[in-house]
Amino acid sequence: MIHEYEPEATRRATGEAESSRASRGWWDRNADEYQTEHGAFLGDDRFVWGPEGLDEADAALLGPASGLEGLDVLEIGAGAAQCSRWLAAQGARPVALDLSHRQLQHALRIGGGVPLVEADATALPFADGSFDLACSAYGAVPFVADPVRVMREVRRVLRPGGRWVFSVTHPVRWAFPDEPGPEGLSVAASYFDRTPYVEQDESGRAVYVEHHRTIGDRVRDVVAGGFRLVDLVEPEWPAWNTQEWGGWSPLRGHLIPGTAIFVCERD
Ligand SMILES: C[S@@+](CC[C@H](N)C(=O)[O-])C[C@H]1O[C@@H](n2cnc3c(N)ncnc32)[C@H](O)[C@@H]1O
Repeated sequence: MIHEYEPEATRRATGEAESSRASRGWWDRNADEYQTEHGAFLGDDRFVWGPEGLDEADAALLGPASGLEGLDVLEIGAGAAQCSRWLAAQGARPVALDLSHRQLQHALRIGGGVPLVEADATALPFADGSFDLACSAYGAVPFVADPVRVMREVRRVLRPGGRWVFSVTHPVRWAFPDEPGPEGLSVAASYFDRTPYVEQDESGRAVYVEHHRTIGDRVRDVVAGGFRLVDLVEPEWPAWNTQEWGGWSPLRGHLIPGTAIFVCERD
């Protein structure tokens, strides 16, 4: 008889090693389902910042698309490297990095020739000053215990004047149940509770981890990492987007923010 164990969802402390191990395992096990479910929305070679569907082709948070030609760009937590493929189409030289082997296998399946690197965002395997730009659409930052470490690593591998743009779950959402319907509209937890969200197996081992930071925490992380924050974008839910993505939905999206995008620069 096969027992399918349903992980227990809880809030508890978890450190860097356990978070990294849990993320790698979870994304390896769930990459196929993630790409099947969201691949069409993401598009093989579009750069989408989050479930609202904000497209870099319109938002130009990395700068005008016409200025991307010839730039070295690091995409962190790239998944199947959809964003990197868009960057390559603009003439940039992207490198797509992800912790999950299975996510990168999807990048290979889609193709396009973008260089792929399997590594943890907290220890980037690149020399100082290797890139002009760095970006991340919901990759790595929400999942690491010490985001300042990621900021410092990104700063190290960027050249002076380089831009670092990353999106995460909007911190306000942590106060609400992660449900797309009306039940997701009532405050159920403290926004100020930084205790990580953890799913754990029968033996108490974390199998999925997300780390909550308030907006103020994220600003302080950016500054502690050596960046200037030049914009904080909260995409509004557009009328054309009728699609739900987990707890992100048109209903909630019209009322509360779902994504926060931090636009940072290195002096
Ligand atoms: C929500 S997915 C986003 C993927 C892609 N950017 C997209 O928009 O579809 C998060 C990605 O971050 C990766 N990730 C999580 N923790 C990471 C870490 N510490 N270092 C590098 N990648 C990580 C996961 O493997 C996963 O592919």
